Amino acid sequence: MNIPLLDLSVQHNALEEELKEAIFSVLESQNFIMGSQVKDFEDEVNSYIGSNHAFGCASGSDALLLALMAIDIQPGDYVITSPFTFFATAGAISRLGAIPIFIDIEFNSFNIDPDKIRAFLEGKDELSKKVKAPIEKIKAIIPVHLYGQMADMDPIMDIAKEFNLVVIEDAAQSIGAVYRNKNAGTIGDFGCFSFFPSKNLGAYGDAGLITVKDPELAEKVDVLRLHGARPKYHHKYVGINSRLDTIQAAILQVKLKHLDNWSDKRREIAELYNSEFEKAGISVAYSGCDDSCLSSGSSLENGKIVLPVEEGGSPKSSGKHIYHQYTIRIKNRDGLAKYLSSKNIGNSIYYPVPLHVQECFSDLNYEAKDCSKAVCASKQALSLPIFPELTKGEIKKIVSTIKEFLENES
Ligand SMILES: Cc1ncc(COP(=O)(O)O)c(C=O)c1O
Repeated sequence: MNIPLLDLSVQHNALEEELKEAIFSVLESQNFIMGSQVKDFEDEVNSYIGSNHAFGCASGSDALLLALMAIDIQPGDYVITSPFTFFATAGAISRLGAIPIFIDIEFNSFNIDPDKIRAFLEGKDELSKKVKAPIEKIKAIIPVHLYGQMADMDPIMDIAKEFNLVVIEDAAQSIGAVYRNKNAGTIGDFGCFSFFPSKNLGAYGDAGLITVKDPELAEKVDVLRLHGARPKYHHKYVGINSRLDTIQAAILQVKLKHLDNWSDKRREIAELYNSEFEKAGISVAYSGCDDSCLSSGSSLENGKIVLPVEEGGSPKSSGKHIYHQYTIRIKNRDGLAKYLSSKNIGNSIYYPVPLHVQECFSDLNYEAKDCSKAVCASKQALSLPIFPELTKGEIKKIVSTIKEFLENES
């Protein structure tokens, strides 16, 4: 049995006729740039998530860049973010000459830890003494809603208000996710979405979208993505070329209608994984973690895996984790990854190297221990196959193969 990490072909086959029609209508109109489908899709997303303003752009990376440009981030400014995310989050900060401040994550959610943001801003931790960022130069926080679960936004918004910081939600992996009855991309000042093909709502190429709360900033974002020009050839700002392709917008319009159903299926799959792992007697909900990950492999219990934990994404707290990834933790992560691959079971490590210790940020002088939980996650996390069409039989096979690995090990 060959079980891929992600199989988009079933979804494609089911929607093929509708997609062809949508693409063909763009070909017929010949409006490849900013055709009517772009605005229609923006409006549909706006009402789907309940944001104030939404603008399509070329990618999730550009959405982050546009948000930072809209608030005039300058060289030498600082922006707080998570070290455990895809590179684009910090890349957008650095591209503007600003400096990322990496604040460690929570063990359970894999998301940035609000208590640690506060400790940093109040100068009560070791990192603030090392980074020495002048408080007036710290301009924004970019919480990342990793794997489809939103970061703990209430305390983050309180901190932002207190320290006068802009909040840019990196919701690239979290369209449709909910935290305390609020959708990803509607809590902060900006929300940045990616429609990279493997995302829960995936285009047929690169695509992204940015939501904006404030009407003036919304107008600025709208113009910044068109080289800063309005009307055409009259440039108020130095913007960028970052439009959402009309063809991609037309494809995304077809797919958006199915997103809730796909998200619910992903949640069902996650529940099934959890119950199968529990039945197999190889799971623990939480086994703690100490800083021994920094020197040796990891401090997790032998012979067990740690299941994903729903924090803000739990329905009990009016949230919704939409499982962009189903990510377990395991002591011998690399061994399991190899074993699964040898059995033709897809798996992936998101992310093997946290950003604070990436070579390109070595001039910032972080040490691994500055974000120790991110280091642990980078050694323990393994994402398993998840997509709406994954079958019960395939899930059972994956669980039994993991059990087999753990038994062979002991
Ligand atoms: C957390 C996160 N931020 C940003 C991005 C960038 O999105 P894109 O690939 O559309 O540029 C991604 C997607 O890969 C992501 O996962």
